[in-house]
Amino acid sequence: MKVKGSAPGKLMLFGEHAVIYNYPCIVTTVSPRIYVEAEITPGQFNIDAPQVKNVRFVEETVKLFSKKYNVDNKLLIKTYSDFSSQYGFGSSSAVTVATIYALSKIYKIKLSKREIFDLGYKVILNIQGVGSGFDIAAAIFGGTLYFVIGGKVIEPLSVKELSLVIGYSGVKADTTKIVKNLEFRIHNSELEYRKIFEKIGRIVEEAKISLVNGDWEKSGELMNQNHQLLQELGVSTEKLNRMCLTAIESGAYGAKLSGAGGGDCMIALVSKDKKEDVESSIVDAGGEIINVKINV
Ligand code: PMV
Repeated sequence: MKVKGSAPGKLMLFGEHAVIYNYPCIVTTVSPRIYVEAEITPGQFNIDAPQVKNVRFVEETVKLFSKKYNVDNKLLIKTYSDFSSQYGFGSSSAVTVATIYALSKIYKIKLSKREIFDLGYKVILNIQGVGSGFDIAAAIFGGTLYFVIGGKVIEPLSVKELSLVIGYSGVKADTTKIVKNLEFRIHNSELEYRKIFEKIGRIVEEAKISLVNGDWEKSGELMNQNHQLLQELGVSTEKLNRMCLTAIESGAYGAKLSGAGGGDCMIALVSKDKKEDVESSIVDAGGEIINVKINV
């Protein structure tokens, strides 16, 4: 018998980095998904995952799952993906959650969302050593979420028609490295960084209201402020800054980097009539437009 599990990728809207230090963030899902197929085999445990990075997450998930629920792990597992891991859409967390779904189906173990979160978050921490778990929550709950580290708060937000342009900077970011580097710098000047995180925390609280109210002008303004603070944290790049600036100059409500920084994607909040202009300006700045549905 073959079973399948799947989970979507994510995009950070507000609050990256500060979320590691106990401030909230807002995350949304993207339409591309990762699929995991599992089958019980008489032979050896085997994984066929085209994205090599995913293998470690699948292995760790199977290890923790079989230990916790006392099941055999003689499985053949295959993964398929709608998206490349290079965009920073959270392929590791999506593959982790999709593997838990597949395993719970094959062994007929009913798990609550909370149990799936706790297991998935443990996998991420065991492999990366750092992370808030926002990506695991997004893969499980879908839609747009207000989130606090470790799933202390996972609150679905009712956000309608979020119109975003996503621009890939062409550079793959190393999230773990950037998070650890920031941690190192904070050690030496704690207070300065605390002030920035507090400001980001306030922006997230305001964005929670403006997004639910569909106040795009306010939300765009908050994105710009959030990006400015990420620049002050030293996690942005020249290219991301250029892409954000040109998006705003072409009529976006606001723009910011999304995720750890150092590369990956930026996002711009746009009205329908400005979408094309913003997209072509990002391409002119050397970015690649990623066309996906969001808030799914
Ligand atoms: O690089 P991404 O898209 O995985 O986002 C990382 C966001 C951080 O806040 C920097 C880390 C985290 O786990 O919350």
